[in-house]
Amino acid sequence: MCGIVAYIGPKEAYPILIKGLHRLEYRGYDSAGVALLNGNLRLYKAQGKVSELENLVSDKDISGNIGIAHTRWATHGEPNDINAHPHFSPSKKLAIIHNGIIENYSTLKSELINRGYVFDSNTDTEVLIHLIEDIQINENVNLVEAVQIALNQVIGAYAIVVISQDYPDMLIAAKKGSPLVIGIGEGEFLVASDATPIIDYTKNVVYLDDEEIAILNRNCELKIKTIKNKDKTPYVHKLEMQLNTLEKGGFEHFMLKEIYEQPRSIKDSMRGRLNAQKGIVSLGGIIDYEMKLINAKRIIIIACGTSWHAGLVGEYLFEDLTRIPVEVEYASEFRYRNPVIYEDDVVIAISQSGETADTLAAIELAKSKGATIIGICNVVGSSIARATHAGSYTHAGPEIGVASTKAFTAQVTILTLMALSIGSKKGTISTSKFYQLINEIENIPEKVEKTLKLSEKIKAIAYEFKDARNFLYLGRGYNFPVALEGALKLKEISYIHAEGYPAAEMKHGPIALIDNEMPVVVVATNKGTYEKVLSNIEEVRARKGKIIAIVTEGDVEVKKLADYVIEIPETQEMLVPILATIPLQLLSYYIAVMRGCNVDMPRNLAKSVTVE
Ligand code: F6R
Repeated sequence: MCGIVAYIGPKEAYPILIKGLHRLEYRGYDSAGVALLNGNLRLYKAQGKVSELENLVSDKDISGNIGIAHTRWATHGEPNDINAHPHFSPSKKLAIIHNGIIENYSTLKSELINRGYVFDSNTDTEVLIHLIEDIQINENVNLVEAVQIALNQVIGAYAIVVISQDYPDMLIAAKKGSPLVIGIGEGEFLVASDATPIIDYTKNVVYLDDEEIAILNRNCELKIKTIKNKDKTPYVHKLEMQLNTLEKGGFEHFMLKEIYEQPRSIKDSMRGRLNAQKGIVSLGGIIDYEMKLINAKRIIIIACGTSWHAGLVGEYLFEDLTRIPVEVEYASEFRYRNPVIYEDDVVIAISQSGETADTLAAIELAKSKGATIIGICNVVGSSIARATHAGSYTHAGPEIGVASTKAFTAQVTILTLMALSIGSKKGTISTSKFYQLINEIENIPEKVEKTLKLSEKIKAIAYEFKDARNFLYLGRGYNFPVALEGALKLKEISYIHAEGYPAAEMKHGPIALIDNEMPVVVVATNKGTYEKVLSNIEEVRARKGKIIAIVTEGDVEVKKLADYVIEIPETQEMLVPILATIPLQLLSYYIAVMRGCNVDMPRNLAKSVTVE
């Protein structure tokens, strides 16, 4: 949600900043801007993608070896040139970029208006930079102190970088709630909202903690203080990210590349954790907390969006394999509804980005009640990974496409391993079932590979339905979350209205929607409830709905009823979500492309939702 990048060092800042903005564009892409300092402070901003900013500056002075840049996902004020970041202070000597929301901005703004200040934009960010300059002048303090004083007055979340014409050898960065990473290069510093713009220059990074301010000097001095002026020692981490994972690698879109990466990403999420020959499933990151899980009276899974769907699969897995009751909660609801949380509850927080504001807040709430928090995150060193007691990284690699694909299958893989590991230690799963499952998990990457080979067939189905206005997705048991995920994927990238339902619920309402124009995707691989799913398909057929069925290879009965069938390899029922999701990802992708949609940057969305 909004991308921040800043540079100070010996090189020209602009090319580094623009390259960084392109890397961060997945976080927000309704406007972009840059401020460069070379004697005077110059600021350029444009509505639209980063390429619009590049067009704008093509005949402008872009010199300077210190600068800040931003790509925006609008919260306060519509996306336009004026509301784009950076924002100037009244004297135009200071500029700021900001990610997050200043919740008390209107109170602060009224006070500043009463003191005679005028604002150009509708943003909370402009209020903050006015406040900083006001403090600097009226309290006669230096810039660092002014930022500290201002941030002590702010309620809400922020990641900011401030640049000043009067301090050409210094950048100030600070954060609370929204992430900020500092890259320590050879005689240079970069600051960014994630490590992707930094990786080209250095692997040494410092993650700022909440309410910390970093002062970056041209003489390579990095000072970190809190906003209460307590000195902190920077802790330097080594990045493990590979540069080639941030490129499209010959695919037309990041989303397609990430769909096709799944055989590898699923393998990576199992690496070192599963040894089927020796009968070992062990997740090193949670080993110290395994007894908590084994003895838990209840597991609460918290997440948002696609990660929440993975959590639903987790509910079925944990209840089947460990017999521990599971509740799956939307983090945004959980955090505000006074939930009952016990000290022997284990909370599993799932997040690809590790930065989702609602999930983070839900974790803090559960932690304050004494629960144990286990994380399942993709981004190493992310805020959620750091806020949890223990956890397992999914190791799916950077996910750039806004629609989550490989992160989902990796999350489900980790949940399966966790449930198997706990179930086997708890004695709630028979030895034969345990071996059947771990042997089959090893086969999953190969079966995903095989499923991906269905793409031409899926493309042909996509062509038939690209102009549909609505879609219904149905599934039962383990396939119910798959139906929800299929519907979410379609609506977010193609803008077709889609609903996911447990198949048997259809007759309690959604059946009214079915006519000969309604495509109904039925995930019909179930063994236990096969006959029942067949009846659901009959109900759709009786109302002339168009049936696209995902079935197990060799299926006979569903084939007789469906208009289109997609056959996926046979596997254990508990592992079907991983395979059955793949055709639904491809179906959404091809429909969206055929409708001319920007699949990697769908409208109104952003990859990392760091605001409420
Ligand atoms: C859907 C999607 C979102 C995210 C949700 C949670 O394709 O990407 O629904 O799943 O915003 O994000 P994370 O997993 O980063 O917490």
